[in-house]
Amino acid sequence: MSVIKKIDKENLPLHIAITMDGNGRWAKEKGKFRIFGHQSGVKAVKDTVEGAAEVGIKFLTLYAFSTENWNRPEKEVNALMSLLVSTINKETKTLMDNDIKLQSIGNIEKLPSKCREELEQAIEETKNNSRMTLILALSYSSRWEIMNAIKQIVKNEISENEITEELFSQYLTTKGVPNPELLIRTSGELRISNFLLWQIAYSELYFTDKHWPEFRREDLFESILDYQKRERRFGKTTEQIKQ
Ligand code: IPE
Ligand code: IPE
Ligand code: MG
Repeated sequence: MSVIKKIDKENLPLHIAITMDGNGRWAKEKGKFRIFGHQSGVKAVKDTVEGAAEVGIKFLTLYAFSTENWNRPEKEVNALMSLLVSTINKETKTLMDNDIKLQSIGNIEKLPSKCREELEQAIEETKNNSRMTLILALSYSSRWEIMNAIKQIVKNEISENEITEELFSQYLTTKGVPNPELLIRTSGELRISNFLLWQIAYSELYFTDKHWPEFRREDLFESILDYQKRERRFGKTTEQIKQ
């Protein structure tokens, strides 16, 4: 039986987040430049996005560029930005064909203007699509997001007794998006790297040794199957969950 058929459609994560890691190492292992790894990662993005829509995932967040990634060599940053521009430009049609809405989280003011324009245009063009929402985390870091939320709350003079988890969530860039039930990271690194710290409080974590350029929809399906085998207790006991 194919992997997708084994998935229980009644128990799908509503939101999956992925840290797409390992492009550079994948390329190095092949004797190529790191940027070749990033270029090859585009195919993995396309296949994963289509696979997620196919299986019925409603929200998919991809960690594409972190605040800390600005500290990489200028040549690599520039190459990543150009790749972003050309990919968004080329793939807007794929998003339209698959009825996928594009959104972004992160400090996009920091992106080169060409990049921001291309992104904003794709977001505008796809805004009425409704099968799935694809969220690109660009120039994103969770501490940046949380600091921003705090600053806004202070600026709005919100009083202490008004501050609840719900209110705080409304000040995050993920406002209106459910917390991810599943967080995937490729390339064998077992860390969070400043991604969605507030939102992943109860997410199931899934790590694979595969580097991002070799990740495909079947790998996504495998991660969902693994997720479906888990018992999510949220602090309660097994007996309480089974009741
Ligand atoms: C992920 O791959 C892409 C970005 C962070 C932009 P890396 O570039 O981090 O690849 P490794 O982890 O160095 O192999
Ligand atoms: C995390 O990967 C960020 C993205 C995938 C965009 P990194 O490769 O930047 O993370 P570290 O440096 O290994 O923690
Ligand atoms: Mg990395």
